[in-house]
Amino acid sequence: MASKLHLTSILALTLTYCTTNFPLATSVGVNWGSNASHPLPPAKVVELLKSNNINKVKLFDANPQVLEAISGTKIVVSVGIPNSMLRSFNASLKAAENWVHDNLTRFTSSVHIEYISVGDEAFLRSHGEQFHPYLVGAASNILKAVTKANLVESVKVVVPCSWDSFQSESDLPSRIQFRPDVNKTMLELLLFLSRHRSPFFVTISPFLSYHENKNTSLDFALFKETARPRNDSHSTYKNSYDLSHDTVVSALSKAGFPLMDIVIGQIGWPTNGAANATSSNAETFMKGLMKHIQSKSGTPLRPKHLPTEVYIMSLLDEDQRSIAAGDFERHWGIFTFDGQAKYNLDFVEGATKLVNAQNVEYLPSRWCVANNNRDLTNASARALEACSAADCTALSPGSSCFNLSWPANISYAFNSYYQQHDQKPESCGFGGLGLITTVDPSVENCRFFVELQTSSSSSLDRSFLMKWILSPMIVLFFVLDGR
Ligand SMILES: *[C@@H]1O[C@H](CO)[C@@H](O)[C@H](O)[C@H]1NC(C)=O
Ligand SMILES: *[C@@H]1O[C@H](CO)[C@@H](O)[C@H](O)[C@H]1NC(C)=O
Ligand SMILES: *[C@@H]1O[C@H](CO)[C@@H](O)[C@H](O)[C@H]1NC(C)=O
Ligand SMILES: *[C@@H]1O[C@H](CO)[C@@H](O)[C@H](O)[C@H]1NC(C)=O
Ligand SMILES: *[C@@H]1O[C@H](CO)[C@@H](O)[C@H](O)[C@H]1NC(C)=O
Ligand SMILES: *[C@@H]1O[C@H](CO)[C@@H](O)[C@H](O)[C@H]1NC(C)=O
Ligand SMILES: *[C@@H]1O[C@H](CO)[C@@H](O)[C@H](O)[C@H]1NC(C)=O
Ligand SMILES: *[C@@H]1O[C@H](CO)[C@@H](O)[C@H](O)[C@H]1NC(C)=O
Ligand SMILES: *[C@@H]1O[C@H](CO)[C@@H](O)[C@H](O)[C@H]1NC(C)=O
Ligand SMILES: *[C@@H]1O[C@H](CO)[C@@H](O)[C@H](O)[C@H]1NC(C)=O
Repeated sequence: MASKLHLTSILALTLTYCTTNFPLATSVGVNWGSNASHPLPPAKVVELLKSNNINKVKLFDANPQVLEAISGTKIVVSVGIPNSMLRSFNASLKAAENWVHDNLTRFTSSVHIEYISVGDEAFLRSHGEQFHPYLVGAASNILKAVTKANLVESVKVVVPCSWDSFQSESDLPSRIQFRPDVNKTMLELLLFLSRHRSPFFVTISPFLSYHENKNTSLDFALFKETARPRNDSHSTYKNSYDLSHDTVVSALSKAGFPLMDIVIGQIGWPTNGAANATSSNAETFMKGLMKHIQSKSGTPLRPKHLPTEVYIMSLLDEDQRSIAAGDFERHWGIFTFDGQAKYNLDFVEGATKLVNAQNVEYLPSRWCVANNNRDLTNASARALEACSAADCTALSPGSSCFNLSWPANISYAFNSYYQQHDQKPESCGFGGLGLITTVDPSVENCRFFVELQTSSSSSLDRSFLMKWILSPMIVLFFVLDGR
């Protein structure tokens, strides 16, 4: 009897929950990552967000300079805890409390923080068992710390899951399951989330589905009306987004959480670093996605229960993202690294096009190229060395600079290295093969970058200057001392 009553009340609760809490619209935000050698200054990024009416951002850390720049705006923020911290937060409540105290509490009066995302895709297959065993322990310690800091009413603790957390022989929703090696942890996570009414954060990637699975057509991935639909049991899917979304729904249902809210934590289309990673495909994809979101039409398995939020991957290109998954990883931005729109997009209903970052400060208009007056026989080895430190993803097959002939491709590599090293003269050495020029070597789509001025590059300049000022004084000192 008691258990029956209990069951009815759970059912009643669930029903109220699902009739009152389904989001009627999906809000759109962006991922703002910081794995760049010369990041656009936070204040400029905040201006960029404001001028494009973007009022939700997802961060991968809790960088105080970034939160400072967001302070006092209407931008709603999701802060992140890097994977490297999971182990210590699982082991120690005190460490979690320190993090919340040091990085969160002092900003909660001036920044609207909505989520703390614990880990960055800790379930990624390539991470193996390095991070995910600590996830749930870390998340619950963070939640305890948030509760102790009296923030639990306003801040939810969530855990972003990678697209490869799922697995099946086909990509159809009815066949899908959580990956066997993570499903135990996943179940604990889902219990944790549902207990605290937190949504399930997940990456959806029509680009990767297309890139990896030759069964998906480009048209299907790009929301084209002409794409051949795919059927799964009684549902017909017209695009890859719906299919992927329902894959998540299906996996959650099978695990016993059919009503859990979904947030798409990352979705986008890269513009370089792989075949079909082009601005024109990205534009088609993003426009299709925006239209889908604005139409408020659900998916076959969830016609009315929309995702609460969708976070675009990504705001800006980042030249230091790991390229383990592919060279395209550094080219997810809807804006280039320096805040210039790659294509047009109605980000919010009624907007006409994206607004670029203003008054961006670059290093001087100087490039490093291969010196044609030298014997360049061994230049390729030098270029490879440069590329191992710098960003040569634009030279890979299918990318914007793939068609450069030799030695222009060597120049590209030299220049990337030179820019990443703040145009320091010695970073254009390459055993005498490098040459600094003021003539822009860019050709067509292949842009030879000039990096941004950053506080570290200007402070470097200052320290150089100090050395020049100080060294005669030191010499003088020794001369005087020696007498
Ligand atoms: C996480 O922390 C708990 C409590 O300290 C500990 O028992 C558990 O072994 C830790 N998990 C891992 C994977 O080390
Ligand atoms: C956050 O807090 C931790 C622990 O107090 C500290 O080590 C870290 O540097 C802080 N800052 C960021 C951006 O996480
Ligand atoms: C690809 O499609 C064919 C026929 O439509 C199907 O038999 C096969 O299982 C699919 N493969 C994958 C990996 O989805
Ligand atoms: C985990 O995966 C195994 C193997 O596929 C399966 O037998 C088991 O039912 C799964 N458990 C959960 C909780 O999904
Ligand atoms: C998918 O289902 C629809 C209607 O249920 C049917 O008309 C169509 O032929 C099916 N398509 C395929 C490729 O099986
Ligand atoms: C990308 O597009 C080209 C045509 O432009 C096509 O031939 C190629 O197979 C596609 N690449 C991938 C990875 O599917
Ligand atoms: C970003 O950089 C941090 C450290 O600089 C690294 O731990 C993390 O894996 C990087 N993320 C990506 C996606 O490359
Ligand atoms: C190129 O490298 C080889 C082997 O290291 C060396 O013997 C040769 O002198 C180099 N050529 C030039 C032009 O530097
Ligand atoms: C590169 O060259 C090939 C053939 O010369 C051409 O088909 C292709 O469109 C070019 N790619 C770019 C990105 O310019
Ligand atoms: C430059 O092009 C040459 C010839 O096409 C090729 O052998 C070399 O590997 C390329 N170097 C780089 C850094 O892309």
